[in-house]
Amino acid sequence: MVDTDWADEVRALARERDAVILAHNYQLPEIQDIADHTGDSLALSRLAAASEASTIVFCGVHFMAETAKILAPDKTVLIPDAAAGCSLADSITADQLRAWKAEHPGAVVVSYVNTTAEVKAETDICCTSSNAVDVVASIPADTEVLFCPDQFLGAHVKRLTGRDNMHIWAGECHVHAGINGDQLAERVAAVPGAELYIHPECGCATSALYLAGEGVVPAEKVKVLSTGDMATAARHTSATAVLVATEVGMLHQLRRAAPGVDFQAVNERASCRYMKMITPEKLLRSLREGTDEVDVPTATADAARAAVTRMISIGH
Ligand code: 13P
Ligand code: SF4
Repeated sequence: MVDTDWADEVRALARERDAVILAHNYQLPEIQDIADHTGDSLALSRLAAASEASTIVFCGVHFMAETAKILAPDKTVLIPDAAAGCSLADSITADQLRAWKAEHPGAVVVSYVNTTAEVKAETDICCTSSNAVDVVASIPADTEVLFCPDQFLGAHVKRLTGRDNMHIWAGECHVHAGINGDQLAERVAAVPGAELYIHPECGCATSALYLAGEGVVPAEKVKVLSTGDMATAARHTSATAVLVATEVGMLHQLRRAAPGVDFQAVNERASCRYMKMITPEKLLRSLREGTDEVDVPTATADAARAAVTRMISIGH
């Protein structure tokens, strides 16, 4: 139940501050519903770059707000709680990436957008889950690729591009890694005929393709998608039930997109505690007090910008 006083105050304060509110698909339902735009990492980065508002309030995790600041250095970027981190972004540091690059001179570094600004500054091209395959495919076939930090997304990209000169960092998101093949097989058996929407960060992504290969689920019903692409697929589906392997906040967008479809989580406990740190109270405080302001040192932002700009120019 949305508190209308809260919603009215958020909208009034956003107007006063000339602020646009962006929310990731994993945010709490109240936050998704009040935002000017809700979407996946790529869509939100593009919106941040294109926005005419002087302030961006980023309801998501810290690396997303940093990416907005890198793309829009003259704007004020706020995140309602700067402590909203990401276990995947924490799985590689800039020092580790520098050491890895030294072992592979001449390699092109592709970093998932779920990385710190310092890691982006050491990167040639960033990617998100919706354009990772296109980004890697854009690199000449004879050039080595260092892909970091997500091993499951890396494996998915390697499978689709057929590239064997691609090295993959062994990082993971604790939420998606925890959605495993056994849980998926159990849910598939319990909901026969369901389509599968699988985020490529999931531990079960390979199992989903295995189930399709074995004919347990028809191949056309298995879709490996970013969160934004899941919402698009939902708007066009003819399925009556869909099993969803990603963070559970996504279910709100899917149910809004296709109210007649039975969307079920593969793992109901797959909730990101960092995403859920952005509460209605903190959003209000952010707009009232201008907290927490995100800053990226100029040299880091300048070094990272080319990689992030290439990312937003590739893919749909
Ligand atoms: P997308 O919304 O880009 O698919 O990213 C998922 C994610 O894990 C963000 O933290
Ligand atoms: Fe990071 Fe995983 Fe949370 Fe996304 S769901 S913000 S990748 S910890």
